[in-house]
Amino acid sequence: MDQVVIDVKSLSVSFGIKRVLTNINLEVVAGSVYGVIGPNGAGKSTLFKAILGLIEFDLGDVTLWDKDIEEVRKRIAYVPQKDEVDWTFPATVKDIVLMGRYPFKKVFQRLNKEDDRLADEAMDELGILNLKNRQIGQLSGGQQQRVFLARALCQQADLYFLDEPFVGVDIATEDKIIKTIKRLAKDGKTLLVVHHDLSTVNDYFDKVILLNQRLVACGDTEKVFTNKNISNAYGGQLTLLNKLGINR
Ligand SMILES: Nc1ncnc2c1ncn2[C@@H]1O[C@H](COP(=O)(O)OP(=O)(O)O)[C@@H](O)[C@H]1O
Ligand SMILES: [Mg+2]
Repeated sequence: MDQVVIDVKSLSVSFGIKRVLTNINLEVVAGSVYGVIGPNGAGKSTLFKAILGLIEFDLGDVTLWDKDIEEVRKRIAYVPQKDEVDWTFPATVKDIVLMGRYPFKKVFQRLNKEDDRLADEAMDELGILNLKNRQIGQLSGGQQQRVFLARALCQQADLYFLDEPFVGVDIATEDKIIKTIKRLAKDGKTLLVVHHDLSTVNDYFDKVILLNQRLVACGDTEKVFTNKNISNAYGGQLTLLNKLGINR
């Protein structure tokens, strides 16, 4: 049987009086790439934050490898949505990538050669080694996404939460990122990726989580990414579905 990495039970989240997620039950298994799909405001980012213990929830229970988040945080990498990052923060590409090593350091403990090597390796995989001394604020959107993914790689995490890694990137970057995602899954890592382009879902993800405040469906892409479920998640925007030409 597949190993359950994330187990979400009866999760509900509100902001003030506004209920954003209602009664989510979800199991995420090891070694797969999950596309997290749903319209704007569906609660995709909120689901990530709730699982990561970054926001409080009204009800429910979340475990990762059967443990509380605080016991396993080092094993988890999170790349937030682009608009949540302060890109004017004065830091070089290398500074940001090396931040992936901080969870493994004690207070005031220095980074060492091995940390440097891991950072270089991650930047190399994403094709940004030549940018290592550049300020992050000077980079293009695609380059910025690569930097944040490189930080996640440098952490050598087992579980990755990527919130809209393909938004605002060029084709070359999209290609690099998806190659890295697939490489990580092949190495047995588990990834959750918020994604908007429905036309690439079949190619990018083995599994999908369709969400619109409630869980519409979760499972193998070929079984779950159906016209009916997509239409349930998007409130029946059928012109969009026709354009996609998915026949199931
Ligand atoms: N910190 C917050 N305070 C109040 N409302 C929020 C907050 N974060 C998100 N929301 C609201 O919760 C809903 C879901 O947001 P979000 O999880 O960001 O959706 P998605 O990522 O699917 O676009 C939206 O209506 C959004 O306005
Ligand atoms: Mg979001």
